[in-house]
Amino acid sequence: MSHQTVIVLDFGGQYNQLIARRVRECQVYCEVKPYTTPLDQLKAMDPIGIIFTGGPNSVYLDSSPKVDPEIFTWGVPILGICYGCQLMAHLLGGQVTEAQDNSAREYGKTVTYYDTACRLFKGLPARGISWMSHGDYMARVPEGFALTAHSDACPNVAIADEARGFYGVQFHPEVNHTENGVAMIRNFLYEVCGAKGDWTMGDYCRTAIAAIREKVGQGKVLLALSGGVDSSVCAALLAEAVGRQLTCVFVDHGLMRKNEGDEVQAAFDRWDINFIRVDAEERFLGKLAGVDDPERKRKIIGEEFIRVFEEEARKIGKVDFLAQGTIYPDVIESGAGDAAVIKSHHNVGGLPDFVDFKEIIEPLRLLFKDEVRQLGRELGLPEYLVMRQPFPGPGLAIRILGAITKEKADLLREADFIFRDEIARAGEDRSLSQYFAVLTNTRSVGVMGDGRTYDYTLALRAVTTSDFMTADWARIPYEVLDRISVRIVNEVQGINRIVYDITSKPPATIEWE
Ligand code: XMP
Repeated sequence: MSHQTVIVLDFGGQYNQLIARRVRECQVYCEVKPYTTPLDQLKAMDPIGIIFTGGPNSVYLDSSPKVDPEIFTWGVPILGICYGCQLMAHLLGGQVTEAQDNSAREYGKTVTYYDTACRLFKGLPARGISWMSHGDYMARVPEGFALTAHSDACPNVAIADEARGFYGVQFHPEVNHTENGVAMIRNFLYEVCGAKGDWTMGDYCRTAIAAIREKVGQGKVLLALSGGVDSSVCAALLAEAVGRQLTCVFVDHGLMRKNEGDEVQAAFDRWDINFIRVDAEERFLGKLAGVDDPERKRKIIGEEFIRVFEEEARKIGKVDFLAQGTIYPDVIESGAGDAAVIKSHHNVGGLPDFVDFKEIIEPLRLLFKDEVRQLGRELGLPEYLVMRQPFPGPGLAIRILGAITKEKADLLREADFIFRDEIARAGEDRSLSQYFAVLTNTRSVGVMGDGRTYDYTLALRAVTTSDFMTADWARIPYEVLDRISVRIVNEVQGINRIVYDITSKPPATIEWE
């Protein structure tokens, strides 16, 4: 590969992939490597720079992760972050100790003062907020290093040996809470390492395709396509890489939004792959008939999904690889421990148990959502698919309160379509994280023309959120709400009242079931 490479040496910190992502944002190729990687392998990568990540340990303990100090003799610039900074100080003859009093132990947003003569902080404001998370303290900095940042509590927040290109920061420049953090990483890459910015999503795409081809060889790949952003981008990437060796199974459970099934299918027309669309509406609605308990709905759909997929997989026979559109936040969240089950999420992720395959491949595993979207664009997926808001696996089933019927699903589909259409027309779509209609199980009296109506109440839900763990109800302008209300009641027969959900999460959840 011809592009410049930066190594992110992983010491077990929680933000390591975020560091890698920041480096990619700066158009520089990087790879995250465990700290145990043999030195000659790292050297063979011919890096222009190395970043030591944070980590949960204390460098002065014998058991904590270390790196062979020979790495400092290569003439390659190094940026140490948090633990990485302390490790650099420790290995180069400084002294790191446990902070003796609370003042030197820092967590959270901290006002920090920077020496802008230092290349790391070049061109940036001399004062800003940084995100700290360290209990240890550099009592003595190594020879040759200068102090280049401090906080009110701590004199040595950053150190630098400009001659050798070694920099250390106690805070986390990779997180959003650190003002100008990305600019600092950019300075390290461009001012110190001499980066040229020769890495783009196009390169990422080509490299990923080559890697998939190499791994898959002549093998067969199976993917359960849900139509969501992640599985669609995963499908497009695989389609580009292995063409007809790929089979996508798209189970249309009849609880998709208006036009959604056709849109998903159309997006894959351009690739010569095996695309199986299973029209399973009747089957799903049959199983769901009369069921009004939200958890039972979810279970039924999850199980039925697996049944359908299993039947299709059996027809295909043995496959070598099962592909999944897992992205990096899924990897983190699935390790989140034993939090209470609020809703049993149904995703297509739980499939491997029954399909006869050799190995799982997850080509998006190291990407963040917006990078996945960018990759989707690079692969030529249409904007409406790439920018699609999250849509739950059980689909409209959990947006129809009470028992589900085809008539109710059709009502909701129409109303939801109008809602989304008006939001897009008003240009509100970019500022909302998720917005949809819910068909309540309540009917109320209305008057239309000269006649009495007794029809359903439709709820509109729109939220803003960064992580979907908490969410705020969106302040959609009244005029827009008014247009939506008028249109739905006029155009969708069977709905005569519209309400707007003004509850945040918590205490409510985003979906109603
Ligand atoms: P809640 O309702 O829990 O939703 O606040 C948080 C986010 O998760 C989505 N969601 C699901 N996604 N399968 C999914 O793939 C599910 O079963 C499911 N249930 C909720 C919801 O749309 C929101 O984005």
